[in-house]
Amino acid sequence: MIRIAAVGDVHLDQDVLGRFRPALEELPDCADVLLLAGDLTRHGTESEARCVAQEFGDLGVPVVTVLGNHDHQCDQVPRVVKVLEDAGITVLEGTGIVLEFPAGRLGVAGVKGFGGGFAGRCASDFGEPEMKAFVRTTNESADALGEALRGLDCDLLVALTHYSPVPDTLAGEPLEIYPFLGSYQLGQAIDSAPTALALHGHAHAGTERGTTPGGVRVRNVAHPVIKQAYSIFHLGDHLVG
Ligand SMILES: [Fe+2]
Repeated sequence: MIRIAAVGDVHLDQDVLGRFRPALEELPDCADVLLLAGDLTRHGTESEARCVAQEFGDLGVPVVTVLGNHDHQCDQVPRVVKVLEDAGITVLEGTGIVLEFPAGRLGVAGVKGFGGGFAGRCASDFGEPEMKAFVRTTNESADALGEALRGLDCDLLVALTHYSPVPDTLAGEPLEIYPFLGSYQLGQAIDSAPTALALHGHAHAGTERGTTPGGVRVRNVAHPVIKQAYSIFHLGDHLVG
């Protein structure tokens, strides 16, 4: 049994620094790893990233993250990533990591992902260059996730994204913005590998539980959805949490 703690959309800045720390100090007692589903900051500045490093550094368990759209806002992604990695946080983008625990090897493949919508109601690769570029971004992101997932040699496989791979976990959000909250291509990527669990954020008004067309369990761990510092998933023969 591997214990995974997860949260997304913590949107840290100076004013909320320390909010998560008391619960995070207890992590080594209840989890083997912490996964962060992006939107760590409000506007993706280096100083906000330093808040993230302070809040989520030195926890006593590995911390693995993807970035979210907010973390891109100020076009400082390389500096944000450096601050996080200097704090020992692994940042995934079309990449994966295998962590060894007594209960087995946990593989985590991550990508920010992108919008595009879901089957029957999605953007298509047609028409203006801008629309084709939009869909190309979606497809490239999903392809990178699929390749990363299929490339990991592990006992249990988890997909970590910011954007949602399914519409289920968006329930509660306005239907009109679903295409900006996720894409079905991420779900296809997750289904292309023996994924045990898919975690995402981004949909603050969404719901917690969903399933990909291939039957992979999806959980929206956006902080406003889970309403706690992190959720814990026990991953083994059966998923608990
Ligand atoms: Fe977001």
